[in-house]
Amino acid sequence: MKAQTARRTFLFGTAASLAAAPGDREIRTAHIGIGNRGTSLLKQVLEQRNVRVTAICDIDPKARDAAQSLAHRDNPRSFTEYRRVLDLNDVDAVAIASPCDLHAEMASACLDAGKYVYCEKPLGITPEQVDLALKASRRAKTFLQIGQQLRYMPGLRAVIAQIHNDKVIGTPFVVKAQRHSTPVRPEADAARPQWYLDPKRSGDLIVENAVHNIDVCNWVADSRPASAFGHGKRYLPKSVPAGSIMMDGFSVEYIYENDMHLDYSQLYLHPRALKELANGQWYMVFGEKGTVNLSKGIFYDIAGAAEPREMIPAGVRDAGENAMSDFFACIRDGRRPFAGIEVAATAALTAIMGREAIYQRRMITWKELGVTL
Ligand SMILES: NC(=O)c1ccc[n+]([C@@H]2O[C@H](COP(=O)([O-])OP(=O)(O)OC[C@H]3O[C@@H](n4cnc5c(N)ncnc54)[C@H](O)[C@@H]3O)[C@@H](O)[C@H]2O)c1
Repeated sequence: MKAQTARRTFLFGTAASLAAAPGDREIRTAHIGIGNRGTSLLKQVLEQRNVRVTAICDIDPKARDAAQSLAHRDNPRSFTEYRRVLDLNDVDAVAIASPCDLHAEMASACLDAGKYVYCEKPLGITPEQVDLALKASRRAKTFLQIGQQLRYMPGLRAVIAQIHNDKVIGTPFVVKAQRHSTPVRPEADAARPQWYLDPKRSGDLIVENAVHNIDVCNWVADSRPASAFGHGKRYLPKSVPAGSIMMDGFSVEYIYENDMHLDYSQLYLHPRALKELANGQWYMVFGEKGTVNLSKGIFYDIAGAAEPREMIPAGVRDAGENAMSDFFACIRDGRRPFAGIEVAATAALTAIMGREAIYQRRMITWKELGVTL
């Protein structure tokens, strides 16, 4: 993937080789995995114009009952086995929000069955899973959009466009980013689904969770990492080596193909009273002419000659994300999504690379992942 080509694709989409768009006709959806996130996606879908929910699928009968009552307007059929959804002629698009280790298999099967796919992040938790979904997507006449909804925050888009197109900081050199929270309470862990705490099913904190933040860093870097090095573990309630249970802290250094450098850290050790760095999630992008606080949309001149400047236009600042409405708009317009398969695969592989660097306590290169992208 050449950086410039990728950026054009992300910003404008491409209409080539997609299945015939259904125009303004009704789009019929199926929903696989309707737990916490799947319910939220189902609610979003029910709010879309000219969209009908025709099938729901979950292995948990309680989840199926809850989804059926939520979507009672459309009276969807209910399934336990996701493969039953593949043969349904009255399903155009599928929303997948199952545990992370199932995404790639389910998404590939849906793409092969000719469905459009909205798949929760991460695309996969191993290079092999990412490759499976990538290959299915290349065969498909439909498309996959990944649930990395930060790509659909209008404020973030406006700021990143000024870094890429208007060169507000000149050449960007370094991104520093963090995600800090207070320690995870044992009762919060106990309320989590089993798959979440098991790194072999979730992909661990960096793949399940930080993939959102790391993707924003990939987006602003407009490149992909060549290598990663890092350290992390489960620090609390007692220190446990990485890989045995989901980490609660790690730091990773990435060097990108274009020589940019990302320093990302995530910690669930932040005392409530510690005000420094307490602003949960942030990203600073340092360049030859200055620094951008990406989350707040503020530019700081490197020489300090000018006052810090607001970058997000009035009216855009408070606009919410529109990932789901754009998914249906892409189907209707025959456009490829902004957060499509390349974004999905690059983000998942970046996170996997960081995780393997932490687990193996050595530098891991992109080439070692063995996926052609
Ligand atoms: N984009 C976001 O902001 C965001 C937020 C939260 C979660 N997520 C992602 O959404 C996914 C689901 O997370 P969650 O918190 O909803 O988990 P969850 O455990 O609440 O929901 C998962 C659902 O999948 C069902 N399921 C498991 N195996 C299945 C199978 N073989 N066939 C059909 N259904 C199956 C479970 O019964 C459950 O109802 C994860 O990948 C997570 O990373 C994304």
